[in-house]
Formats: sequence, structure tokens, C-alpha cells
Amino acid sequence: MKEKIKELFKARFGTEGAIYASAGRINLIGEHTDYNGGFVFPGAIDKCIMAEININGTDLVRAYSADLDDYCEFGLREEDVPDKQWARYIFGVCREIIKRGFTVKGFDTVFAGNVPLGAGLSSSAALESCFAFALNDLFNDNKIDKFELALIGQSTEHNYCGVNCGIMDQFASVFGKKDCLMRLDCRSLEHKYYPFKADGYKLVLLDSKVKHELVDSPYNKRRASCEHVAKTLGVETLRDADMEMLEVAKDKINEEDFMRAYYVIGEKQRVLDVCDALECGDFETVGRCMYETHHGLSKDYEVSCEELDFLNNIARECGVTGSRIMGGGFGGCTINLVKDELYDDFIATAKAKFNEKYGHEPVVYPVIISDGAHKCE
Ligand code: GLA
Repeated sequence: MKEKIKELFKARFGTEGAIYASAGRINLIGEHTDYNGGFVFPGAIDKCIMAEININGTDLVRAYSADLDDYCEFGLREEDVPDKQWARYIFGVCREIIKRGFTVKGFDTVFAGNVPLGAGLSSSAALESCFAFALNDLFNDNKIDKFELALIGQSTEHNYCGVNCGIMDQFASVFGKKDCLMRLDCRSLEHKYYPFKADGYKLVLLDSKVKHELVDSPYNKRRASCEHVAKTLGVETLRDADMEMLEVAKDKINEEDFMRAYYVIGEKQRVLDVCDALECGDFETVGRCMYETHHGLSKDYEVSCEELDFLNNIARECGVTGSRIMGGGFGGCTINLVKDELYDDFIATAKAKFNEKYGHEPVVYPVIISDGAHKCE
């Protein structure tokens, strides 16, 4: 990928720039808890967005997406917002940096990536984090701290891309560390790295190839439901609520919002249970919690789909330790915790059964936990 980017950059702009990369993410447990002030358990993966960038001495950004074979040029004032969706991510990052009183001037860039789009692996956060990290290095002597870099990516989603997301994806993409997952408190942003060594197990993603677009999806609606319940309960976020409070207020909450909050409050506890279980290598408990999360995301939070429920069932039938839908939902991947000796059989069975029913195989991505945003040598 690096060589291809360099070649394209040279051919298009006739110069050379610096190269940066930032990763997609997985999340072991803690889904839809981030915007509720709760805990998540993500890690960066070995799939990234990479960009070559060179300051061009003008007020214009000239950007080429190698994967889409598409070019876009835009200024850096608020009214210069580009029409192309992919360019808005870059534009948004520039604007959010400028809004915070830091500097961005014109630059040339060519970028590409191998984070599959719409698979729930946060290709958009990888793109935002890559540019936030790079523009901090190129124009600001790295004066913006990493927390702010993650927040810049999140604000880009809110203000330029129409997704009211939480902080998990951008945080994982910026703070990711090789071989480590992290427990992140999304309220305080306090985080702790957990070296992820699951001897005897593998983590693997099965991509249903069902596409989700959070912009058009009911993601923002889920968030609004949670905020509505929190308000009714008189708490800042659902982080501060428990099942008892929810039961007491049942009459004041509509049925749908009740189910959403029920899932989130349960999930908050599951993340903490998984952390405890990981401390003592109890992967059976980790796996059980993953199945519970899937059940909650499918039946109470209603962000699963037929194909993902199907993959989850196959995992159960094959004796897989844990399996669940991962990410925002409405398509994408399941994440599976599988004993080594069951791995080959599980993958073969999932491929065959899924193919038989939906006419194509799910794509298999073994999880390799890697570093987050960085400058490439
Ligand atoms: C998407 C969002 C995240 C998070 C997850 C669900 O990936 O970008 O902030 O809410 O969905 O856990």
C-alpha cells in the first residue's frame, strides 16, 4: 500500500511528502455504551488508512482517494465544505483543528486503506485519526494532545458527517497499542491497557458483507432514545442508572425506549464482568457475556439483522466460546472467540452454511491487535 501511495503521489503532484497511518478497530465488549458515558473494550487492528501528505504553500487542500480513484480540491473556510462525502472527513478534521485555535494550511495528499468499508471496523475513524495525527505533526509541532485528536475525529462525525457517534472508535484508532485491548471509561477518558493473550483461543471476525451506513441508519435514533430515558430518570447519562431505577420509572417511558435502556444498563455491567474475567483468564465468562450482548443487541437494542443472527447461531452450534455482532450494527461483522481446536471446523461450517443461505461466503478476518495512529518511517 505504501509503495502504491508513493507512486501515485509522485505522479500526481511531482513531489514527496511524509506518510502517516491510523488503524481500524475491534471491540471485545461494550457496544453502544460509549455515548452513554459507559465503558468499552476496543483495540486497534492491523488494517489501516495510510496517507502521504505534503504542505503545498497554498490555501487549498488537494486530495486524491486511491481506492475510489477520485479527486477533490477544497479550501479551509467553513463555507468551503466539499460535496463529496469522503472529502468531508478530511475537511472536517481540518476545520475542527482550526476551530480549536491550531493551524492547518493547504496540503496535497494521496490516501488509501485496507479497512473494509461498512464492516463495522471504523474505516471513517481511521481516516479521521490519520489526518488529525498528521496535521498535528505537520502544522502544530504535535502540540495537540492525543485525547484532543480523538475528540477532533468525533466532532468531525458530529458536525460534518451527520453521525452522532461516541468516542470509542477515534479513541481506539489514536491510542491503540500492539497486542493490547483497552478498557476505556468514556466519561472520564481514563483508560487501561490489557495485554490480550488468549492462549488456546483465537479472535476472528466474520463479515456478513451486509452494508451499513450509519448516516442513514437509526444509529442517531438509538442515541436519542438513551438520552431521553436518562432525562426521564433525572441522570446525566445511562451510566448513572441501574435496573431498579429503570423499573421504577417504567410507566413514564415508552416500550421501545425502555428496551434500549434495558440493554445499555445490562451492557455496562457486562464490560466490567469481562474485565474481571480477563484478569483471571476466564474465557468462558468472556464468551458467555459476548453471547448475552448479541442477544441484547438483537432483541432489545434491535441493531442486528438476519444475516448476523444467522452467523451468531452457527457459532453457537459449533461450540464457539463467544460470538456477537460488533460495532454500530445494521450489518457488518460478528466477532468470535474460538478455541484453537474448533477454529477450522467453525470457519468451514460458517462459510458453507452462510453461502447456502445467502449466496456468498462471509469474509474472514483473523484479529491482529496493532498500533494506532503513527508516522511511517
Ligand atoms: C459506532 C460508533 C461508536 C459506538 C459503536 C457502538 O462504531 O461510531 O461510537 O457507538 O458504533 O458501540
